[in-house]
Amino acid sequence: MAKRTIVAMPGDGIGKVVLDEAIRVLDAAGFDAEYVNGDIGWEFWCKEGNPLPDRTIKLLEQHKIGLFGAITSKPKDKTLTELDPKLKDKGFTYYSPIVTMRQKFGLDICMRPCITLPGNPLNFIRRNTKGGSDEPVVDCMIFRQNTEGLYGGVEWTNPNDQVYDTFMTHPRFKENFAWCPRPELAISTRIVTKKYSTRIIKAAFEYAKKRGFDKVTVCEKPNVIRETSGMILKIAQDMSKNEYPNIRVEDVNIDAMMMWLTKNPENYHVIVSENMFGDIVSDAFAGLIGGLGFATSAQFNPETGVCVFEPTHGSAPKYAELNPSIVNPIAMILSAVMMLEHIGEDKIANRIKDAVLKVIAEGKVRCYDMMKMSGKQEVLSNGAASTTQMADAIIAKLK
Ligand code: NAI
Ligand code: MG
Repeated sequence: MAKRTIVAMPGDGIGKVVLDEAIRVLDAAGFDAEYVNGDIGWEFWCKEGNPLPDRTIKLLEQHKIGLFGAITSKPKDKTLTELDPKLKDKGFTYYSPIVTMRQKFGLDICMRPCITLPGNPLNFIRRNTKGGSDEPVVDCMIFRQNTEGLYGGVEWTNPNDQVYDTFMTHPRFKENFAWCPRPELAISTRIVTKKYSTRIIKAAFEYAKKRGFDKVTVCEKPNVIRETSGMILKIAQDMSKNEYPNIRVEDVNIDAMMMWLTKNPENYHVIVSENMFGDIVSDAFAGLIGGLGFATSAQFNPETGVCVFEPTHGSAPKYAELNPSIVNPIAMILSAVMMLEHIGEDKIANRIKDAVLKVIAEGKVRCYDMMKMSGKQEVLSNGAASTTQMADAIIAKLK
């Protein structure tokens, strides 16, 4: 097979560290690829006024497959104070490069697996009725709509006349918010379309079918957010009835889900949600399987084939300067495994996955998070593995 070209986008902070380690593991496992570097992140905002330069967009257009570390985003006031003085007052506006990338490439399908890795000391433990405890096996794929909803970016502070007047045509706005002086008013919208809701729900049903699960859980709030959540639930119900008669739809409100997932996480295998609720529910589930050091994600455009694989953690700036690095590379490595599965490199994917499972089950090499230490350079002298040592241990277990 022709050599693959992968766009490696390290980003900021620990993004660079974990991506390098993941590539080392990919190489050791025999994945034959060339990596081209894609610039992304705060550094490029400061230097160029654009955290996602056009050259990176071109690389992704051309090669289609991206491995992404993490970026730093800072509050609004910092976007201007840290911008290169030469670029000030030239009309540059900061937008999150992640959101821009998702929207630009229409990466509307986001999959976030939360699956228990046996032997991980961070696995969720639940008290049972006999005075002991159980470790429920979590095996849940969260399908998060990735381009719309509350993260769609359609929002205003101090809205202009046209926007304000339009909102005033809504009786609830007029009744409840007309008292507010306009400069003190901020509005964020939650826009949902039938096309992209259908796509994410379809992906969830297909996954349920493939894995043999008999239900898809819609995690929304249709009793209150009647228009958008209501549309999502209705599409799912119709799809179950018309296309997947053996897979039922379960309607669980996002707030209730935050309670159920610590009571009976083993009851959920396929969850589908709008952008923000999907973000929330996937972080909550990730907490049951070890947290950010283990939480992976994949995002796709099923039409163009562009896809980006990334850990869900951020750039963890407070650990970025530690040398040797202490952060856990497993989330990044397992995101690379998702990439391999997606491009049909199942053998290499399984080789890496088995090696990760062995290292975790054996329990000899653990990063600081797995030892419940607070993150400091000293963790390494207290028995925690460095980022590189963890990757080395995984490489040593490759068959
Ligand atoms: P974060 O995920 O960077 O860090 C939160 C905490 O999680 C860290 O202090 C650390 O204790 C732990 N952590 C994260 N990754 C870890 C790993 N691989 N191993 C062990 N522990 C790990 O989130 P935070 O602190 O809220 O944000 C920091 C920066 O990252 C911000 O600028 C934020 O905007 C950005 N961010 C970027 C994301 C992305 O690129 N996808 C996602 C989330 C945040
Ligand atoms: Mg999140």
